[in-house]
Amino acid sequence: MNTVTCIAPVNIAVIKYWGKRNEELILPLNDSISASLDTEHLCAKTTVMISPEFKQDRIWLNGQEENANNVRLLNCLLEMRKRMQLTGQAKHWKVHICSENNFPTAAGLASSAAGYACLAAALAKLYKVEGDISAIARVGSGSACRSTLGGFVRWHKGSDPNGADSLAKQVIPPSHWPEMRILVLVVSDHKKKVSSAIGMKRGVISSELLKYRVEHIMPKRVEEMEQALLNKDFKSFAEITMKDSNQMHAVTLDTYPPCCYMNDISHKIIDLVHSYNAAVNNVKVAYTFDAGPNATFYLLEEDVPKIMGIIDYYFPSANDNMVEYRKGIVVEPIQPSKDLLEKINVEPETPGKLKYMICTRVGDGPKVLYDQNDTLLNSQGLPIKA
Ligand code: DP6
Repeated sequence: MNTVTCIAPVNIAVIKYWGKRNEELILPLNDSISASLDTEHLCAKTTVMISPEFKQDRIWLNGQEENANNVRLLNCLLEMRKRMQLTGQAKHWKVHICSENNFPTAAGLASSAAGYACLAAALAKLYKVEGDISAIARVGSGSACRSTLGGFVRWHKGSDPNGADSLAKQVIPPSHWPEMRILVLVVSDHKKKVSSAIGMKRGVISSELLKYRVEHIMPKRVEEMEQALLNKDFKSFAEITMKDSNQMHAVTLDTYPPCCYMNDISHKIIDLVHSYNAAVNNVKVAYTFDAGPNATFYLLEEDVPKIMGIIDYYFPSANDNMVEYRKGIVVEPIQPSKDLLEKINVEPETPGKLKYMICTRVGDGPKVLYDQNDTLLNSQGLPIKA
């Protein structure tokens, strides 16, 4: 077997990883927790191939050839090759890698986590590497280690200076809380942001709040989140999720010079969620934001039609084509009642502030695809879709 194709999930953290204690090995300052999203709606797909004919390692991402001498990619390949169980000449063969996402890059969703998890899973199969692969994905991109497993996943920061115990472990499988749903709201925005790697590096140097967060908040918060997940306690889960997102963004503002990832629409979404929860006198939906303006909602299945109706009312789509606008699980939104609208003290936006919406659920970890039609490389090891 010289070719392997895999898919791997995108993950969205509910306890954020923000700050490294070791830049080179990508070791975090705190534990983090995320859900892996159903690969049916969002995933990376990667084909890896080895051959005596290949002159050098090469990589194509979303149809473009990229520099295979990128440090993070080299580190991933190095770790894999250290652990490979291949015998004979095949050990020395070069590899071709071709990777793509099943969602538009224009959606502006972080894809490196799914991409590196997928690469680690595919290479592990090709090189017959046994055991944990989260540490290998981690050296590509920290959050990628959480995409090597399904369900809700905790990345344990570990204490070993070499990172031997900085690994991802599953907290609950998708079947433990099957009612959990995720809505990804893609906010229209074209500004280039400071990368999370640079943002966190700056934060570690300059933010006093980050120090406080790591020492005094995180140890307890991670345990509380794990308990909320085990107990299926949505209220606690949602409150911790929102507080942790807010604190990460407070850290980015406390960074000097500051990094500002959310925009006015992001803040308006936060307002709307709190107003809605107050209006229904319960905590029915939680938001979280990564290093960008896009919001992700966590909510329960029974509330999705109502929340979709609320989003449609306050953030109307500019798009007449709802098939293009709404992706993932098909849901018929319920229009909010007049009574509810009166209680929510938020002005509706002009159409088009959201460009895309994906409704999905918690899903499994990476999978190997055995159908030949799934391969992204032809027999010469070149991308099929040129
Ligand atoms: C805000 O994993 O992209 O999404 O380790 O430098 O590659 P590197 O950073 P990355 O950071 C993700 C940060 C985050 C929060 C999270 O996913 O936990």
